[in-house]
Amino acid sequence: MKKPPGNPAARLEHLREEAAGCRDCPLWENATQTVFGDGDARAKVMLVGEQPGDQEDRTGHPFVGPAGRILDQALAEAGIPRAHTYVTNAVKHFKWEPRGKRRLHKTPAQREVDACRQWLEREIATVQPAVVVCLGATAAKSLLGPRLRISQERGTVQRREGFPDLVPTFHPSYLLRLKGRAGEEEAHAQFVSDLELAARYLKDKSDR
Ligand code: URA
Repeated sequence: MKKPPGNPAARLEHLREEAAGCRDCPLWENATQTVFGDGDARAKVMLVGEQPGDQEDRTGHPFVGPAGRILDQALAEAGIPRAHTYVTNAVKHFKWEPRGKRRLHKTPAQREVDACRQWLEREIATVQPAVVVCLGATAAKSLLGPRLRISQERGTVQRREGFPDLVPTFHPSYLLRLKGRAGEEEAHAQFVSDLELAARYLKDKSDR
């Protein structure tokens, strides 16, 4: 992927300002704001989720709610300081439906993921990470194509022309839903092990 000119942090700031006014799909209408990625503009590890949730929509930062806490814990176990990563989402507006006073997450449609891919691709081109961890099916399918199955391909290194190495894994919300249920421990261990795979890029590819 061709690197745009200029300092990555300044370039990301410019992208963030551009994305704040994005109207390429209707999701902006019911969202508080565009939630752009944040973190280290020169990170070797980029993490891509699905879309902001309720707390992310209110604060304007990715993965700061319950799923973010699961992610932070697993990153710590895998030896990846979150401050050394760049964290973003495949879709940058919160899609939700009302349920009483609550705003319930709704999975984004393919056309919304497609409309938002330009921002993700421009973030990847700017940060130039060594590895992109796709958290869940929406992120994985956005970057790896619709046939990707997390259950079959999680924890493997996938290669696509013009992209850094890509590692699909579970979405932290899946682990949240498994809490206290059969399979929780195994899924957590697999999630940490997939992040450990990404952690190797912090060490191996230090001469970027
Ligand atoms: N889930 C996501 O996919 N991204 C967030 O930022 C928060 C929850």
